[in-house]
Amino acid sequence: MAVLRVLKYGDPGLRRRASPVGEVTPEIRAVIADMTETMYDEVGIGLAAPQVGISLRLIVIADEEGRGVQAVLNPAIVERGGETTGEEGCLSIPGVFAPVVRSAWVKVEARDVNGQPLAINARGLRARVLQHEIDHLDGVLFIDRVDPVTRDRIKRKIKKDGLREDASRHAFAL
Ligand code: NI
Repeated sequence: MAVLRVLKYGDPGLRRRASPVGEVTPEIRAVIADMTETMYDEVGIGLAAPQVGISLRLIVIADEEGRGVQAVLNPAIVERGGETTGEEGCLSIPGVFAPVVRSAWVKVEARDVNGQPLAINARGLRARVLQHEIDHLDGVLFIDRVDPVTRDRIKRKIKKDGLREDASRHAFAL
């Protein structure tokens, strides 16, 4: 296993639409293992393959304490409802946090690490993580979903200061 380099905001790799995962080959399993290790190393609770430069529809997610890691292949949100606002961060945009409006619950259909059908009903933080990571598969970043005034402020700050870690608030980066 290896810790992979996480692409940072501005890298075109973060803006591509990723391709579906086909057969779960040993190479895909190795990618999942590396992504899991990378997520732990970065103290994140979610990571999408495009964030490590792999343009595949594959994410790994963990619970709030970083436990219960799950690989989710080719996820699609098939139902969603409610609305909730919560602060998000992203391992690809270190040091930036902003409130994002998301669906309060989602139903996701996907494949698991064995290629078997996987259905996930999620609410709360898990629903937020899934929406954030699935956005990554379409080249969408959380700052695309904040209000325009906040987005402008974030972009100006990044231009002026660059991207800086804020270790005290790292735990909820996705
Ligand atoms: Ni992210």
